[in-house]
Amino acid sequence: MKDLGNLNEDGYLLVKNVLSPDILKLLTIQFTMHRDCVLIEEGFDLDDRISEIVNHSGILSQKSFHQYGIICFDSLLIFLKEKIEDIVGEKLLPLHSGARIMYNGAFMVPHKDKDKYDFVCTICIEEDEKFPYPLCLEDYNQKTVKINIHPGDMLIYDGCMLNHWREKYEGKRHIQTFISYAIDNQSNKHLIYDKRPCLGLGIEWKKIKDAVT
Ligand SMILES: [Fe+2]
Repeated sequence: MKDLGNLNEDGYLLVKNVLSPDILKLLTIQFTMHRDCVLIEEGFDLDDRISEIVNHSGILSQKSFHQYGIICFDSLLIFLKEKIEDIVGEKLLPLHSGARIMYNGAFMVPHKDKDKYDFVCTICIEEDEKFPYPLCLEDYNQKTVKINIHPGDMLIYDGCMLNHWREKYEGKRHIQTFISYAIDNQSNKHLIYDKRPCLGLGIEWKKIKDAVT
């Protein structure tokens, strides 16, 4: 029997050092480069940092730059798939990635993930060392826990069942990604890539697919 630590009993499991410092550095460069490209394409001045916060926070968080399904983080769905399958003891279908750069004053409202993810894995890419930024959740036993996920570490949790949130951020900048998987049970193959034709495509591709199925 596989030892899943507290994943089964509490609904979450912290795994240390899944990404090396070099990979974290590369992902930070790629994500900030992507952010700058988005801003330039939208006609903003790169010095006008407030624009990224105003326009790209998403509905769950404020004062953050959020992106869905960009290549540098969707590729982690493939890169880490075998490792996570080994940890959870299931064959997995890769679904989607999201990523946020969170700035001073950011937060994430308490919520449960709406889509049918069996596992959500949140990985810290960069932190302000003086201000670790815990993910808060209510575990299967209704106990509230605050989990510090440091750069390179990954929290696997049941995002659809557990209420989770982040409190007001006191640091300068925190970067995190979250990747989602469904258990591959042969009857749900249509969920692969979050119903997009391939990884790396934006959420609008999911909407198109949802509309025709
Ligand atoms: Fe969530």
